[in-house]
Amino acid sequence: MRALVYHGPRNIRYDDVADPKIAETTDAIVRVERSGICGSDLHIYHGQGFSPDVGFCVGHEAVGEVVELGGGVRRLSAGQKVMLSAAVGCGSCAKCLGGHIARCENGAAGCYGLGQQLEGCQAAYVRVPMADFNAAPIPDGLTADQALMLTDNLPAAYYGCRHAEIGPGKSVAVVGLGPIGLMAVETAFLLGASRVFAIDLVPERRAIAAEMGAEPIDGTNAIAEIAGRTKMRMADAVVEASGSDATVSMAIALAGVGGTASIVGVNLTPAFQFPMAMAFVKNMTFRIGTCSVQCHWPELIPLIQNGRLHPERFISHHMPLSKGAEAYRLFDARSGGALKMVLTAD
Ligand SMILES: NC(=O)c1ccc[n+]([C@@H]2O[C@H](COP(=O)([O-])OP(=O)(O)OC[C@H]3O[C@@H](n4cnc5c(N)ncnc54)[C@H](O)[C@@H]3O)[C@@H](O)[C@H]2O)c1
Ligand SMILES: [Zn+2]
Ligand SMILES: [Zn+2]
Repeated sequence: MRALVYHGPRNIRYDDVADPKIAETTDAIVRVERSGICGSDLHIYHGQGFSPDVGFCVGHEAVGEVVELGGGVRRLSAGQKVMLSAAVGCGSCAKCLGGHIARCENGAAGCYGLGQQLEGCQAAYVRVPMADFNAAPIPDGLTADQALMLTDNLPAAYYGCRHAEIGPGKSVAVVGLGPIGLMAVETAFLLGASRVFAIDLVPERRAIAAEMGAEPIDGTNAIAEIAGRTKMRMADAVVEASGSDATVSMAIALAGVGGTASIVGVNLTPAFQFPMAMAFVKNMTFRIGTCSVQCHWPELIPLIQNGRLHPERFISHHMPLSKGAEAYRLFDARSGGALKMVLTAD
C-alpha cells in the first residue's frame, strides 16, 4: 500500500510499504478515507518526536471503512464507517474503563504513528488493536470531517479545558491557536467562560479566535498585556496548546492566584525550569498529560450533533494523501491560511 513515511527531520515521503495484517483476534483493518495532520506530527517532522525511529508510517487521526476483523471483535462489522481514537488502550483494565488510558494497567497505552511500535494511519490502511475499544462507528448525523476531529483534536481541546477547571464566569487564557487552541476557545465559551484571551504569534489565527468572541493577544507581549487588562489578576484558567518551553512558562505566568494551568501541548524537554516559587506563592494548580480520546466521545458527540461545537470549521485544507509532504510543509509554515490539514484517500 501507499503511506506517508518519516525518514528524518523535514523528510516525510509517500512510499510503498507492506499492507497491515490482523495480528491479534481483537484487531481490525480499516481502509483510511481521511486522516489528519496534528501538531504532534509536527514535533516528529522537526526531529523532536517520541522515538528515535525512522522508516515508520506517521499519523494518528483517521476515519475509514472496516475491511477485515479478527474473530474476537464483537462491536464492529465489515463495511462499517468508523472513527479511530488516537489514544490506544487495552479497553479492559480498570484504568482504561475509568477513562485514563495513559494509566493502562496492561501496558497497552499507545498511539499510532509515533515510531515502529504501532504503524500510523496517514496510509491507505491501518491496523487497529483492541478494535472494540479503540474505534467506533461514526455517529448519526456527523460528517466524516466532524468525526475526524473527534479522533484527537477536539477531545484534546476539551480535556485541556476540563483540566483547567473552566466554568461559569471564569476568565480564561488559551496559549497557542492551532486547531486545538482554537477549539479550546470555542469550548471555553461553551463551558461558561466570561472572557477568553486568545494568544498566538500568527495574526490570522488570532483573528479566527476574535470572531468567536475572544480577545486576541499577540504572543510576543502576552503576559504584560493580560496583566494590564486584568489589573494584575491574570486568568483563572489557562490552556496551553503549543508545547514549547516558552509557551509552557507563559501559561504558568498567566495563571492568577488560585488559578490553574493545563498543559495540552507536547513538551518533551527533559529538565524544564519550573518556576516553583511563583507557583507556590500563587497557590496554583498545574496539570499535564495525554488525552484519553474515546472516553470523551459520550460528551462531545451530542455537542456536535446539536450544533454547540463546530470542529470542522477549523479545517483549512483537504489534500490527497499523495500530496502529504506538501501538506506537512504548509502546516509547518503556518502560512497560506493553513490550519487543520486533512488528507484524503488517493
Ligand atoms: N496532550 C495531548 O493529548 C495532545 C493531543 C494532541 C495534540 N497535542 C499537542 O497540542 C499542541 C497543539 O497542536 P495543534 O494541532 O493545535 O497545532 P500546532 O502545534 O501547530 O499549534 C501550535 C500553535 O502555537 C503557536 N505558538 C507557537 N509559539 C508561540 C508563542 N511563543 N506564543 C503564542 N503562540 C505560539 C503557533 O503559532 C501555533 O498556532 C501540539 O504540541 C501537539 O503535540 C497534545
Ligand atoms: Zn495528535
Ligand atoms: Zn488498559
